[in-house]
Amino acid sequence: MAFDLSFVLPLFSAVVALALAIVFYNFTSSNNKSKKNLPPGELGLPWIGETLEFHKAQKNNRLYEEFVQPRIQKNGKTFKTRLMGSPTVVVNGAEANKFFLSNEFKLVVSSWPTSSVQLMGSDSIMETQGDAHRCVRGIIATSLSCSGLEAMVPMICNTVQSHLDENWRGKDVISLYRLTKTLTFTIMLECMLGIEVQPEMLGMFEKVLEGVFSLPFRFPGTAFSRAKNARIEVEKMLLNIVRKKREEIAFQQVVGGGGMLLFRLVKAMIQGEMSEKEVVDNMVLLVFAAHDTTSFAITMTFRMLAHHPNCYSQLLQEHLDIKDNRRPGETLTHEDIKKMNYTWQVARESMRMFPPIFGSFRKAIVDIEYDGFTIPKGWKVLWTAYGTHYESEYFEDPLRFNPSRFEIPVQPYAYLPFGGGPRQCAGYQLAKLNILILIHFVVTQYEWSLVNPQEPIAVDPLPFPSQGMPIRISPKLS
Ligand code: HEM
Repeated sequence: MAFDLSFVLPLFSAVVALALAIVFYNFTSSNNKSKKNLPPGELGLPWIGETLEFHKAQKNNRLYEEFVQPRIQKNGKTFKTRLMGSPTVVVNGAEANKFFLSNEFKLVVSSWPTSSVQLMGSDSIMETQGDAHRCVRGIIATSLSCSGLEAMVPMICNTVQSHLDENWRGKDVISLYRLTKTLTFTIMLECMLGIEVQPEMLGMFEKVLEGVFSLPFRFPGTAFSRAKNARIEVEKMLLNIVRKKREEIAFQQVVGGGGMLLFRLVKAMIQGEMSEKEVVDNMVLLVFAAHDTTSFAITMTFRMLAHHPNCYSQLLQEHLDIKDNRRPGETLTHEDIKKMNYTWQVARESMRMFPPIFGSFRKAIVDIEYDGFTIPKGWKVLWTAYGTHYESEYFEDPLRFNPSRFEIPVQPYAYLPFGGGPRQCAGYQLAKLNILILIHFVVTQYEWSLVNPQEPIAVDPLPFPSQGMPIRISPKLS
């Protein structure tokens, strides 16, 4: 009988590597300690650190209560930990948010997991820095600004109405989260990029998104491997679209309708401001950035409305007034959207309590002095929306759902569902339009109620309603 000894050498090498890593870790951490005043907190074991505790708290949707808050109580608002191999300083409070978010490119740069970079593309806006970032952001933000979107209101309204006619009409129960994802995807593709959605497209994109936070191992059967394969398909499709658009622009055959964002990206490519790969990578990134975030914000807004009937009555009145001022068949205008003040307060309060993105990582590009401590170059910094959203210092009685709190301005950098500084969400205005227009059409046309009012929220690592938030619907009798 022959023994397979092929595993001995790799195993021996792994043991030696681990031993060296521990010696190196002890040496560097004692060296660091002697030179630098690091924030308090536990770095834990090499590589793993407190990753398991972090993931467990995140999975329970209790990252703040189970991971951040106990460490703040022990160490103060700035503390160190080690997550997924990186020494990380977690910072909390409006002042810290302002310091780190506004010093993007000077002291820190955004830092995404390897899998996200590989699947979104290394040339998307999230990976660009400094002047290159300003250039691509200018192109994207012009189409997504309030004035850039004004002309898109009728088209978004038509898309929402067709979506309701196709997916809501005649149904008793629908999955609000699932269908909202379909709608968000359609708005992004058809209204912003001018791409007609084909039945297989959403599935292809979602396969890519499923791997965005997975471990970057490309073994057959892993989420990352499936996502990589889907990314190849998506890329092929987008390349064809970009090349076709290039020809249309060259031969001045661009027709009206949606697609201003793609038009601007391809125009920038023709003028030599962007490469073809940059255009494709940014298209994938934009779909990713809009998808789960907007859908979660919408579902949580409906959930909070169902739990707070008084708020719902006030919101409904706002929409009935807008509807009463329109002639039959007339679509919503930008002026109508501006009147949806209370609805936006409800959506903002829902995002305060349920931020679609819990926070994000930065990497120190120099040694940083903050709060009396040194954050060494190369360390990660994690800011979280929870660090202010759930603090009574910024929001009185923070666990109470109170949309009217937004009648008065909030302290800068205390309310951060859309981030802040140079990397503040570029799609904020589109998300707002998407949320307000859908709410208007639903509440003026449908009676609805939650099937499971206490449906748990799952996190992986973005939050979502664990059962897709089924709602019971029936057409309104007018
Ligand atoms: C409710 C919906 C949304 C939420 C809560 C949200 C949240 C965020 C947050 C927190 C960031 C900053 C991340 C960081 O600092 O690391 C961000 C960035 C970004 N978002 Fe959104 N987002 C939403 C919708 C959208 C939509 C609809 C689009 C596009 C159409 C979009 C495009 C972007 C882009 C391009 C960035 C990167 C900006 C840059 O690096 O300069 N987002 N978003």
